[in-house]
Amino acid sequence: TPSVVILISGRGSNLNALIDHAKQTGAYQICAVISNRPNAAGLALAKTAGLDTAVLDHTEYESREAFDAALADLIDEYQPDWLVLAGFMRVLTEGFVNRYLGRLVNIHPSLLPAFPGLKTHQQALEAGVRVHGVTVHLVTPELDHGPIVDQAMLLVLPGDTPETLAARVLALEHQIYPRALSALASGQIKSVNGRLEGTLTLPLIHAI
Ligand code: GAR
Repeated sequence: TPSVVILISGRGSNLNALIDHAKQTGAYQICAVISNRPNAAGLALAKTAGLDTAVLDHTEYESREAFDAALADLIDEYQPDWLVLAGFMRVLTEGFVNRYLGRLVNIHPSLLPAFPGLKTHQQALEAGVRVHGVTVHLVTPELDHGPIVDQAMLLVLPGDTPETLAARVLALEHQIYPRALSALASGQIKSVNGRLEGTLTLPLIHAI
């Protein structure tokens, strides 16, 4: 079974969806959950599920390089096939990203390449888009720009706020992240020379 280390920074709702899917399907095995924030709520979810957890507090490191080196050492103790970012809110150094290139996965709450970075739902409202959503992608050194594994979309409705959009996008996140990770773990989708090959089922669309 392909093994997975999951990195989190906070709430851990995507982590929870990934844990549930692993339990239900056995498509991958989560060997550890690592948080850069000691009080991340997701740590308790992981412990309840009986998973190994670790905290690596970035505020205790002098530089991004020093933090990323310590993080890589910790991850490599588990020798995971996949490294999965689930609401991990730190930018990773190029050296770190290259070490896990092709097996480092992220979920981003917009339809990339639109709205990289933070406050994606506010960005979407300000841009006036009528369609919004979420992207699962492989991580490359350029922030939020790697090959797209899967996307799910929804319609922006009159009266939507960043909060209402975030809630509907999150429901989609919980559906697509497990299935995207399963498709990667099973080899249904493969990264070949930095490009993804293979096909997924049709993209999900949120019912209004
Ligand atoms: C999710 O919406 C995820 O897409 C986003 O943070 C949230 C984490 O929620 N990630 C990013 O913005 C990455 N730059 P969660 O902790 O409940 O999974």
